[in-house]
Amino acid sequence: MTATLNLAFSTETSSSYPVIVTAAATDAGFALSAAAEATDNAMGGALTRAASEAEFKGKAGQTLVVRGAEGTAVLVGSGKNLAAGKDAENLGGHIFSALGKAGLTSASVMLTGLDAAIVADIAHGAHLASYVFKHYFTKGDAAEVKMKSLTIISDADVSSEYAMREELAQGVFLARDLVFEPANKLYPESYAERCETLADQGLKITVLDEDAMRKEGMDLLLSVGQGSRRASRMVIMEWNGGGDEAPVALVGKGVCFDTGGISLKPAGGMEDMKWDMGGSAAVVGAMRALAGRKIKRNVVGLVGLVENMPDGEATRPGDVVTSMSGQTVEIINTDAEGRLVLADVLTYANKYFKPSKMINLATLTGAIIVSLGKEYAGLFSNNDDLSNALMAAGLETGEKSWRMPMGKEYDDLLKSHIADMKNIGGRWGGSITAACFLERFVEGVPWAHLDIAGMAWSEKATPTVPKGGTGFGVKMLTNFLENDA
Ligand code: BES
Ligand code: MN
Ligand code: ZN
Repeated sequence: MTATLNLAFSTETSSSYPVIVTAAATDAGFALSAAAEATDNAMGGALTRAASEAEFKGKAGQTLVVRGAEGTAVLVGSGKNLAAGKDAENLGGHIFSALGKAGLTSASVMLTGLDAAIVADIAHGAHLASYVFKHYFTKGDAAEVKMKSLTIISDADVSSEYAMREELAQGVFLARDLVFEPANKLYPESYAERCETLADQGLKITVLDEDAMRKEGMDLLLSVGQGSRRASRMVIMEWNGGGDEAPVALVGKGVCFDTGGISLKPAGGMEDMKWDMGGSAAVVGAMRALAGRKIKRNVVGLVGLVENMPDGEATRPGDVVTSMSGQTVEIINTDAEGRLVLADVLTYANKYFKPSKMINLATLTGAIIVSLGKEYAGLFSNNDDLSNALMAAGLETGEKSWRMPMGKEYDDLLKSHIADMKNIGGRWGGSITAACFLERFVEGVPWAHLDIAGMAWSEKATPTVPKGGTGFGVKMLTNFLENDA
């Protein structure tokens, strides 16, 4: 499973073929890197000739394959003013796909003259791009996976820079793996077992079963899972690298399958609801990355794991359920289940961990996809500093979010005639009323909610994110926690 790319680093500058070299875009046309120039000379100018014939401009991701007597050279554009961070990662992604386009199974990438951080970012980008979920193919090449290897040639000392990115990639890959898994394989119990394996990373893992949650009064969460043959779970993952500071709590929606319950969803596309646990996957992946990077912070990850199914035991529309916080909820629509799960997990997090901040992630509403499409996650918060810091952390890592409004007028739409609140607002602004529902359970603690319904799964690949489970959120959270004082 996960990455199939074999990445190696070398300081040996003697070029071996096949070789991947880069060229930057300039106002005048393009400029070959020093390594590309050396390659061009060795090939008797074949690279520059081919470049002018193909109208190669050095644009980010533009690729040119040149076969000479010496072997194959691939020229990849790095765009204008290559910067560290997601620019360089994207170049790594393009380099990885160039390997495939040229029909190569291995190559050396000449990155001499670039500093360690940029080289490490490029390597990281190639690594992220190489991810493939091939767990259920029984025939080797059904997934079109060839063992590919890249040797990155750099005069900089890349290894310690790269080691940190490798830990991040492991977190992203774990999140992607969880999102890809079908619901007959990944259900609350099996999911909790996978979380338990993270004890190897130095995380303290606690699993609450249904009896334990019933004792805590987590009836909202339990009401979602009660129509399923699969028992619900909550998993708590603690990383204590920050001495006695109050922890940051990361909370994730882990609906392993969302049929809608008695408010049943239509059949078309329902298979997508296997990834209704994408928020929890981001939390689990981030905890993996933070532990691997031995971050000097206290962080606690909590995920509510349930399956939302219709049966004779299932919650009925109109049922009234008491939350762990004591507030009562009239469940008008059993398909608005994610907020019910999160509400009790947020209450639990506050009661037992007294966090300085809480950040929750959830594939919460279809409405956020209507609002923002598949480019930005919706960000809702009661705190400007937290919200700005999260947005910035995401921008740096290529995980964009956009702040959405909240407020009393929206919150009022949750009024119920027979209980403290309903679980849905009116027809409009569905992502906002969902966020207002959550805010009723955060007890004034600085809090942000990321609605990632448009982001957890992708139908089209980007340079560093193949189609399918994206692992969205892991990079943003990791970066946020490392920058946050
Ligand atoms: N899991 C869905 C939201 C969702 C939709 C995620 C599409 C990813 C892709 C959520 O539980 C849900 O069903 N929300 C309802 C809320 C409605 C009943 C108020 C929705 O968005 O329709
Ligand atoms: Mn639902
Ligand atoms: Zn859902």
